[in-house]
Amino acid sequence: MSKNAIIFGVTGQDGSYLSELLLDKGYDVVGVKRRSSTDTTGRLSDIVGNVRFHLIEGDVTDYASMSGVFSQADDIFGEHPQEVYNLAAQSHVGTSFKQPLATWDSTAKGVLNILEVIKNDYPKSRFYQASTSEMFGDNYHETHVACDGPGCGTTVRMTQDESLPFSPRSPYAVAKVAAHQSVKLYRDAYGIFGACGILFNHESPRRGEHFVTRKVTKYVAKLHWVMQRGEKPAKLGLGNLDIKRDWGHAADYVNAMWLMLQQDEPDDFVIATGETYSIGQMCECAFDCIGLDYEDWVYTDPQFLRPAEVPHLHGIPAKAERVLNWKRQITFRELIEDMVNHDIELLRSEYV
Ligand code: GDD
Repeated sequence: MSKNAIIFGVTGQDGSYLSELLLDKGYDVVGVKRRSSTDTTGRLSDIVGNVRFHLIEGDVTDYASMSGVFSQADDIFGEHPQEVYNLAAQSHVGTSFKQPLATWDSTAKGVLNILEVIKNDYPKSRFYQASTSEMFGDNYHETHVACDGPGCGTTVRMTQDESLPFSPRSPYAVAKVAAHQSVKLYRDAYGIFGACGILFNHESPRRGEHFVTRKVTKYVAKLHWVMQRGEKPAKLGLGNLDIKRDWGHAADYVNAMWLMLQQDEPDDFVIATGETYSIGQMCECAFDCIGLDYEDWVYTDPQFLRPAEVPHLHGIPAKAERVLNWKRQITFRELIEDMVNHDIELLRSEYV
């Protein structure tokens, strides 16, 4: 039987990787993007010509628009949509402090709009919601683990898994919790197949330039070329370098999204690597790629500090590994090297 899917938020990093994955699996895909006067399809350049990929416009904040998207997908597929992936949101945490209402509309209300369409007219469509580790906020499990080395007794491990209560620390995270709980409610109240992936940070060469990994790898790439000319660029301003994140590769994480919709029962899963690194350690890894010490090039700029922070993310993906048979393939170092090398190539024509 042929398979089909709608992807909301298709122009983003995850939307592009998920589209490629589903097309490789033989799906027909309807990708939904917001109307924009500038071209936002750069990440889709490899698939826009594919006859099984259909790009249409729609806005998750508008119920009529969502209803229209499902009808158009009906016509394109010749049947009801089987799988619906919602990756649409205002996803920059820092921006959500400056635009809390717009963030709420796309991130929380948008999900309710899609759920209502499914409940009213498409109850058999399976729904994936992009939940996030940001929902845990400043909450974590504390475990005391033995550590090796002379004089070293135990260390405290701070981790998050599906059993941990949420404690959101930004307008973005508050909206994501509302969306997450809405999916659970529609699952329990109406029997909708709704699954939430609680994804920890996931990056790639397609990551937006305002997220910290890409900001750093772009700077490192520029440094690489500028130094070859014997010039010295301005230093890089970052926010809090002690914050810790669990970073995986987006290409690995979209596979987990797909697996969640292939299960017999809908459920929620933490998707993470099980490792955590500080922003400083991430910088160290990126600068290492060009043989430089990040401490010589990075300074703290207060404009990048947030009004409230999520200090420590360290996900435990044991449930996903057990139930979905999912495991990340790309290590942290490989991820950062991939991003730095990509950015160096991207800048080559400007400098050579
Ligand atoms: N963006 C940014 N820029 N972050 C900085 C900077 C900087 O100059 N300096 C330090 N940071 C810190 C942020 O304060 C944050 O604690 C951490 O680096 C990571 O920031 P981002 O890369 O912007 O990602 P995020 O963790 O806030 O959110 C991302 O991951 C979530 C999953 O946990 C986004 O992709 C969210 O949409 C996603 O839900």
